[in-house]
Amino acid sequence: STVHAHGAPEPTGSTAYVGIGELVTCDGTGEVGLGMRRDAAVVVEDGLVAWVGESADAPAADRRVDLEGRAVLPGFVDSHSHLVFDGDRAAEFAARMTGERYDGGGIGVSVAATRAASDERLRELVAARVAEMRAQGTTTVEIKSGYGLTVEDEARALRIARELTPETTFLGAHVVPEEARGDRTAYVDLVTGPMLEACAPYARWADVFCEPNSPHAFTEDESRAILLAARDAGLELRVHGNQLGPGPGVQLAVELGAASVDHCTYLSDADVDALVQAADTTCATLLPGVEFSTRSPYPDARALLDAGVSVALATDCNPGTCYSDSMPFVIALAVREMGMTPSEAVYAATAGSAKALRRGDVGRVAVGGPADLAVLEAPSHLHLAYRAGVPIARTLATAADRTGE
Ligand code: NIG
Ligand code: FE
Repeated sequence: STVHAHGAPEPTGSTAYVGIGELVTCDGTGEVGLGMRRDAAVVVEDGLVAWVGESADAPAADRRVDLEGRAVLPGFVDSHSHLVFDGDRAAEFAARMTGERYDGGGIGVSVAATRAASDERLRELVAARVAEMRAQGTTTVEIKSGYGLTVEDEARALRIARELTPETTFLGAHVVPEEARGDRTAYVDLVTGPMLEACAPYARWADVFCEPNSPHAFTEDESRAILLAARDAGLELRVHGNQLGPGPGVQLAVELGAASVDHCTYLSDADVDALVQAADTTCATLLPGVEFSTRSPYPDARALLDAGVSVALATDCNPGTCYSDSMPFVIALAVREMGMTPSEAVYAATAGSAKALRRGDVGRVAVGGPADLAVLEAPSHLHLAYRAGVPIARTLATAADRTGE
């Protein structure tokens, strides 16, 4: 399992989870690919799915847990988060709720607080956030740097993130830090040079906040230079694009074959066309917790799905635009505010976001794959949006506690 901070230990030997009222496999069959099965059982052995079938046919195992009709689904894949930070920006959130606009300027506040934190404190903060995610059913998480913005502080953020997940992302190009404002070119050279070199060993991905609508973020040309340098250093690419207004982020992500372009709040018809053409390569990752927390208009997920875009959902958990790490909350917003069906939202939060991380092993329930599963205190995945705000999701490894066995 990928998220392992403070999780309940996986029981040793084999466990047969029987009495699963609804098993969502995301195997690509049936309604929107959910691959739903009723009255199912799953046998888990050494952290892997060893058997899937009818509950009545479940083979003997060292341990048997009756889930009494509960729903089981792939653990959520949160493909976009910024968990390595210290400091508090609740007042900035409160100001936005009364009309203040978000422009990325608050990132500097988190950079100062993060630089001032000890390694030990940062490690504890990140581990606690990952544990909080896990408690809500998330089993894979991507974590970005981006609140250090010096060679040392970015490398430190990624070293710490790497202790918790293989899905680490170098975001030295989050904003131009205050001390570098006078010379943007010098900062881009730092990011593409010594900072990239120090960070590449701890990062799978590189990302950039490509946003001409923010004075703090990066232009199309700066973004392209940074992404090309990262690709040359062996990193795969993701992009923050089209968040604050129309912009070049989507087209750039498609041009460079990035795995995902995230936010996609303001899209032109040409952007949607580009995402349709690139659907096998580049996902549109929607982050509706950000629209919630910045009072922005929600992207039209319905239109993207109908056009044939690969859509993923993630939290973007960060101290500025969305301090929530709850995938069920994101699913509820996707259904209520973006026109997704509950089934589409669950698929986008599991198999869809696994695709955005180019991971074929997670976000589905398949024999031989990791037993990274979530169980609901509910009979159906529909309840994730239906019971918004109620903590009904948890990881399967902790299910036995809840059923009292
Ligand atoms: O994904 N847009 C850029 N970065 C983050 C926000 C970071 C912050 O405000 O601290 C985002 O929304
Ligand atoms: Fe982000």
